[in-house]
Amino acid sequence: MTYPQPSLYERIGGAETVATLVEHFYERVTADPELAPFFAKTDLKKLRAMQREFFSVALGGPVTYFGRPLAYAHRGRGIERHHFQRFVEHLLETLAHQGLDERDVHDIIERINVYSSDILGGHGTSG
Ligand code: HEM
Repeated sequence: MTYPQPSLYERIGGAETVATLVEHFYERVTADPELAPFFAKTDLKKLRAMQREFFSVALGGPVTYFGRPLAYAHRGRGIERHHFQRFVEHLLETLAHQGLDERDVHDIIERINVYSSDILGGHGTSG
């Protein structure tokens, strides 16, 4: 007999955990001299709200994402693969600091990596 599994969103602690993660994650990203310039003109408060929605949806939470499609929001910004990799590294470190177990961290990174071609558009698709 199998029982329905709680979503990853539920397992990591729902809305509260996601909000904390996004907060810490953006502190790291905007302190990184390679990534900070991308966010120079961005309303970070709005961005964090969007990211909370987005991450919640990506983790299977009962949330609707109202932001722009990712390919559209990231188009023409010159984001290359090494930027994307740094971004994901900050996410990894944030998740590790948050004390999530290895399997959950792996699941989250896997789900986020799915969007790499949307974020990179024409850049870095060969690597
Ligand atoms: C899988 C990785 C990523 C995800 C899931 C993601 C997700 C998002 C989301 C949900 C938004 C809000 C869209 C909206 O305003 O409607 C956004 C905006 C933005 N993202 Fe990302 N992003 C990712 C990677 C990156 C990377 C690698 C960079 C740059 C190094 C970046 C730079 C930005 C910038 C600058 C904005 C703000 C656009 C504005 O000012 O309106 N993102 N992202």
